[in-house]
Amino acid sequence: MTPDLLEQGARRIEQRRAALEASKANTESGGRNAGIGRIATPGEVDVTHGRILYLEDVSVSFDGFKAINKLSLDIAPGELRCIIGPNGAGKTTMMDIITGKTRPDEGTVFFGSTIDLLRHTEPQIAQLGIGRKFQKPTVFEQLTVFENLELALKTNKGVKSSMFFRLDSEQSDRLAETLVTIHLADSVSRMAGNLSHGQKQWLEIGMLLMQDPKLLLLDEPVAGMTDEETARTAELFLSLKGKHSLMVVEHDMSFIKTISEIVTVLCDGSVLAQGTLDQVQADERVIEVYLGR
Ligand SMILES: Nc1ncnc2c1ncn2[C@@H]1O[C@H](COP(=O)(O)OP(=O)(O)O)[C@@H](O)[C@H]1O
Ligand SMILES: [Mg+2]
Repeated sequence: MTPDLLEQGARRIEQRRAALEASKANTESGGRNAGIGRIATPGEVDVTHGRILYLEDVSVSFDGFKAINKLSLDIAPGELRCIIGPNGAGKTTMMDIITGKTRPDEGTVFFGSTIDLLRHTEPQIAQLGIGRKFQKPTVFEQLTVFENLELALKTNKGVKSSMFFRLDSEQSDRLAETLVTIHLADSVSRMAGNLSHGQKQWLEIGMLLMQDPKLLLLDEPVAGMTDEETARTAELFLSLKGKHSLMVVEHDMSFIKTISEIVTVLCDGSVLAQGTLDQVQADERVIEVYLGR
C-alpha cells in the first residue's frame, strides 16, 4: 500500500470512531453500557438493579465551602426514604443536585441505572419523572383547586396549545383520583387562596401527582401544619409509597416516626448514619451532632 492510501484508511477509521463517539454521547446514559443482555427502553426508568436513584461520591462547594462532601446514597423503587439532619447539613442542596438546579463539582447521579441526571437540564429532569415540592406552597391563589390541578397537566408533556386543551378520560380519572388522595374532593371549586396552609401543601402535592412522577422529593412538607394536618399528610405519604418513590426531608420526628422505614442522617454534606429511626436515634454520632448545635 502506498503511504497516501494508508493515510486515507487511517483518516476513515478516525472518522468512523468519531461518529461512533458522537452517537454514543446522544444516548441518555452518555454511551455507558446499560448492562449486559438488557435493552434500555427510552423514556423508561430502568430499575432492574433495584435502585431508582443512585448518588455516588457527589461533592459541591460554594466559595470553597463543601456543602456536599462525597455523598453516596441510593433509593429503591417504591421506597419512602426520610432524610434528617441538622440545619446546613446539605439536605436542600442534595435535592438541588438531583433536580438539576445545582451542578455538582464531581460525582455520579443516576435515575434508574441508565439515566445520567448530570447530563440533563432542570426541565428535562422534571419531564423524566422527578417531581419536587419546595418548602413554601406555590399554588395559584386566584384559581380553583380544579383549575390548579388542570394547569399542572397543561404545563406537562409538551401540550402545544393550552387554549384548546381538554382533559382526556385518563386525565379526568387521574384528576378525580388525585382529589381524593389529597383530601380535597369536597373543595374542587374553592379558590386556592382560601385554603388552609396544609390544604395548599396538599394541593401542590396533587399538582405534582398530576404529572405522574416516578420519584417525588419533598422538602419539609409538614412545616407550619397543624397536628391534624400533619397526621393526614402522613397518611397521604403512606398511600403514595409503592406507587411512587419518595424522598422526604423533615425535622418533625413524630411525623418521621409514623412514615419511616429507613432514615438517612445527613451531616456536613454526607451520610452520617442510616437505619431505622430507633437505630439512628441511638447512634452516638447522631446524638452528638444534634446536641452539639
Ligand atoms: N447557593 C448557595 N450559595 C452558597 N452557599 C450555599 C448555597 N446553597 C447552600 N449553601 C450552603 O450550603 C450549606 C447547606 O445548605 P442546605 O443544603 O440549605 O442545608 P439544609 O437544607 O440541610 O439545612 C449551608 O451552609 C448553606 O449556607
Ligand atoms: Mg433545607
